[in-house]
Amino acid sequence: MDKKQLRKEIICLRDTLSAAERDAKAEIIIKNLLATELYQKANHIMLFAAFGSELNLLPLVETIIKAGKHAYLPVVDKKTNRILPIEVHSLADLKPGTYDIPEPSPDNYQEVTPNLLDLIITPAVAFDTDKYRIGYGAGYYDRFFASLKKDIIKIGVGFDEQLVQEVPREPHDIRLNYVLTDKRLLK
Ligand SMILES: Nc1ncnc2c1ncn2[C@@H]1O[C@H](COP(=O)(O)OP(=O)(O)OP(=O)(O)O)[C@@H](O)[C@H]1O
Ligand SMILES: [Mg+2]
Repeated sequence: MDKKQLRKEIICLRDTLSAAERDAKAEIIIKNLLATELYQKANHIMLFAAFGSELNLLPLVETIIKAGKHAYLPVVDKKTNRILPIEVHSLADLKPGTYDIPEPSPDNYQEVTPNLLDLIITPAVAFDTDKYRIGYGAGYYDRFFASLKKDIIKIGVGFDEQLVQEVPREPHDIRLNYVLTDKRLLK
């Protein structure tokens, strides 16, 4: 199956989950993530705000901030077609950005050196058991990862329905270090 077809199929499957099911699964995923040493050791954590039927991680933004750690969300820079991690100090600072996804509002931007991050909680449309991922097809995460120090830990999170045996792989696709769903943690 090619990337385009797989994206369509998995998004369609994810869309069949009810909002209540997605919230229940998100709660399990967040709870399991908080229990990992990976999370506990991380101080500068990038995560994402949901697009469509993706899992909602915004409650985790608050948990991170309350724990005295730093939370970052991606902002799409249209000039360079890249994503930039921008620190979030409060959920109240978020405004709908590109693609209508909540982003830190431009008034609150703070420059950050992406290599300061120690954990990147990464979205995907589909993951495979070898920890490769496909996103929506813009290459934002692939280019972002390629620009970073290699030792920054990348964990893909999503619903177990998004995990497939094998996603198509191209030379620019970058492997994750972990994949976490509501049913398993792949290391
Ligand atoms: N490191 C890179 N340098 C330049 N172009 C890249 C790089 N990585 C990906 N791209 C471009 O991005 C396009 C989309 O890549 P791909 O289909 O793998 O997207 P994706 O993984 O679904 O998207 P995303 O990374 O946003 O989740 C590729 O065709 C390629 O041209
Ligand atoms: Mg890719």
